Amino acid sequence: MPQSAHRRRTLPLVGQAGGGRSRATCRLRCGDACFHEAPNTSDNAYFGDIFTAVLSRRGALRAGAVGAGAAAVGMSGLAPALAHDKKGKGNPRLKFRGVEANTKDAVTVPRGYDHNVIIRWGDPVLLDAPEFDFTGQTADAQAKQFGYNCDYVGFQPLHHDRGLLWVNHEYTNEELMFAGYTGGNDADPEQIKIAMAAHGGSIVEIKRVEGRSGAWELVTYGKRAYNRRITADTPMKLAGPAAGDDLLRTDADPDGVEVLGMLNNCAGGMTPWGTILTCEENFNQYFVGGEGAPEAAKAALARYGIATSGDTRAGNRRFDRVDERFDLSRHPTEANRFGYVVEIDPFDPRYKPRKRTMLGRIKHEGAATRLTRDRRVAVYMGDDERFDYIYKFVSDKKYRKGSRRHNDTLLDSGTLYVAKLTGDSPAEEIDGSGTLPSDGAFGGSGEWVPLCSARESFVDGFTVAEVLVHTRLAADKAGATKMDRPEDIEPSPATGKVYCALTNNSAREPGQADEPNPRGPNKHGHILEITEERNDAGATTFGWSVPLVCGDPEDPDTYYSGFDKSKVAAVSAPDNLCFDEHGNLWISTDGQPGGLGVNDALHVMPVEGKYRGELKTFATVPKGAEACGPFITEDNKTVFLAPQHPGDGGTAEEPTSHWPDGGDSVPRPSVVSIWHTKGRKIGS
Ligand code: FEO
Ligand code: CA
Ligand code: CA
Repeated sequence: MPQSAHRRRTLPLVGQAGGGRSRATCRLRCGDACFHEAPNTSDNAYFGDIFTAVLSRRGALRAGAVGAGAAAVGMSGLAPALAHDKKGKGNPRLKFRGVEANTKDAVTVPRGYDHNVIIRWGDPVLLDAPEFDFTGQTADAQAKQFGYNCDYVGFQPLHHDRGLLWVNHEYTNEELMFAGYTGGNDADPEQIKIAMAAHGGSIVEIKRVEGRSGAWELVTYGKRAYNRRITADTPMKLAGPAAGDDLLRTDADPDGVEVLGMLNNCAGGMTPWGTILTCEENFNQYFVGGEGAPEAAKAALARYGIATSGDTRAGNRRFDRVDERFDLSRHPTEANRFGYVVEIDPFDPRYKPRKRTMLGRIKHEGAATRLTRDRRVAVYMGDDERFDYIYKFVSDKKYRKGSRRHNDTLLDSGTLYVAKLTGDSPAEEIDGSGTLPSDGAFGGSGEWVPLCSARESFVDGFTVAEVLVHTRLAADKAGATKMDRPEDIEPSPATGKVYCALTNNSAREPGQADEPNPRGPNKHGHILEITEERNDAGATTFGWSVPLVCGDPEDPDTYYSGFDKSKVAAVSAPDNLCFDEHGNLWISTDGQPGGLGVNDALHVMPVEGKYRGELKTFATVPKGAEACGPFITEDNKTVFLAPQHPGDGGTAEEPTSHWPDGGDSVPRPSVVSIWHTKGRKIGS
C-alpha cells in the first residue's frame, strides 16, 4: 500500500507548542525559545536581495556540476562521511518499502530490517560504574553512566568489528528522570547534580554482533580504555583567538582559558583527523540572575535569549543552587563561556576538550567539515533560533594527513563567515504561501560575508574577541540573512553540495517571507541546498536552491523537487541530516507529533538524478521521542539512530512511553543500530 494512503492520519495531541513539541520539552530543552520574542531584533532584511547579486544561480549550479568530488580527501578509516567523498555512485532508487507513519511506542523499521538497542540512559560507561538504579540515582553514578537525551551520534572505526561511538547528551527531562520532581527551589540538590552529570557526552566502545554484520552492541568486558563521560563539570580549554579575553575571564578563571563543562550539546560532526565536534546549543537556559548583570552586558545577553529582567529563576533547573557560576548577577561573564563548538579526540581519553572560539559563539546546532580545494578545512554551522543565521569557518592552515599535532591547531585560526542569500525571482512572486515563483523553484545566489580572522575584525566597532563571543551581534551588523531556524548542515560526500535543515519558524509573518524562507508562517520547515562556487568549500560565493518544502504532500505549499507527490511520504520539522554512500540525503525530524500528528521519523530522499525528491520513511521513533543521530557507517550496513526524550510530555509517575524496556518501565533515551537481516547494504 502506498505511504500516501496512511499519511493523513492525524491524532489530537495536547499541549503542543509552536515548534511542534510539548510545552515540557520546550522549557527543558530550549528554555521556551518559541514562547519568547525571537531574540534577533536587528533590522536585517528578511529579503536577501538588498545587496549586489554575486553569482547567477544558473552559473553556480553549472559550476557545481563540473567540480563534484573535487574536495575528496580519502582518509580511509577516519571520518567516514569525508572518506566517502569520491564515491558518488549516482542514486539508485532506494529499495525498501517505506514505513507507515504511526504513533506506536516503538522503533519501527522497514520489512527485512531489524534493530537493537546498543545503550540506554544509565547504562554503565566507565569500568567502575554501577548498574542503573532508577530509585537509587546518585550524581557520582550518573557521571560514570550513559547520560540523558542522546542527540548527535558519531562513529569512528577501530577496525572492522570494533568502533567508538560518540553520543551527545543534550539536556535532561527531570520530570521523567525523578519520581516526584518538583523543580526550582524545591529540587533536591543531588537531583540537580545528577542532571548536570547527565549532560555532556559519552564515548563507548562497541563491536559487531556476531553473525549479524550490521548490528552493533556495547563492549561490556575488558579494559574499555576509550570509554569516557564528559559532563557539565569536565574541565575544558578555551582555545582560539578569544581565549584569555576579558569577556571570558571569571573569578574562578582569571586567565579566561579554562571552563568547566559543556551544555546542551545538540548535533555535531567529525573532522578528517578523526576528532568529534560537539556543539553547544541552547546554553542560555542554564543561567539565572541576568536581571542583576551589569547594564552594559544586558544587550548581548538578551541577544542570546538570556532573560535580563523579571524573575529569571522561575522554571529554571537552578544549577546555580549547587554551583554559583550559573548566577549571572554574581558571575556575569560565565555565560560567555558557553555556546561553542567543542572538539574532542575520542582516541585519546586524556584529551582536554577544546572550546574552539574561532568558530564563533551562537546556539550551535551542528558542525560539518569539508576540505577546500587547497586542503584547508571548512566547517559549516547553523544557529538554531528563529531568524538566525548560517555560518562557515575556513581555516588558514591546510590539513595534514597523519599529523595529529598540526591538525589540532586548524580550528584556531581562519576566517569566520556568515551567509547572505539573494533570491533570483521578483520579490512580489514570493508571497509567503509557498507558491513556487514563475521560474519553477526557489533559488538564488549567496555570499559568505567575512566577520573576522584570527587577527582582524571585519565588523566595525567589534574586536576579534567581540566578534567571536558576541557573534550574533556581529552578524546582525554584517547584514546576514534571517533564516527559519538553521538546524543540521551537511555537505554531501558524493557531490560536495551542502544541505541545511531549516526546521520551522512559527514567527515568520507572510510579509517576512523571502525566497530562501518562502513560507510565513513556516510550520513544517524546508531544506536548503548550497552549491559553492567551483564546488570549493573555500569559496566566498555560492548558489542555492530549496529541494524540499516539508509538510503533507497533499498540501499545495509542499515541494519535493518536482517529484510526483502522490508517491512520497509526509515530513515535518527536519533536524539532523546525514548521507549514505550514494549521496542520498537522510533526514531525521523533531516535531512531527505537532506538525503531522504522527511520531518523529528518519526519512531518506535522493537529491540527484531522476528520483530527486522521492522521499520515503525508513524508521519511526517511539512516542514523544525525536529522531536523533542518524549516522550511516562507511560500509553502508548500519544506521545508528538515537531516539531522544521518549515519553516527552509524561512524568516518571505517569509515563507515556515505556521504551525501550517495556512493561511499566520509565522511558530511557537510547541509541539503536538498524540493519538488513540478510546483511545487505541499507536501502539496497
Ligand atoms: Fe537541539 Fe536545534 O535542536
Ligand atoms: Ca537538533
Ligand atoms: Ca531539534
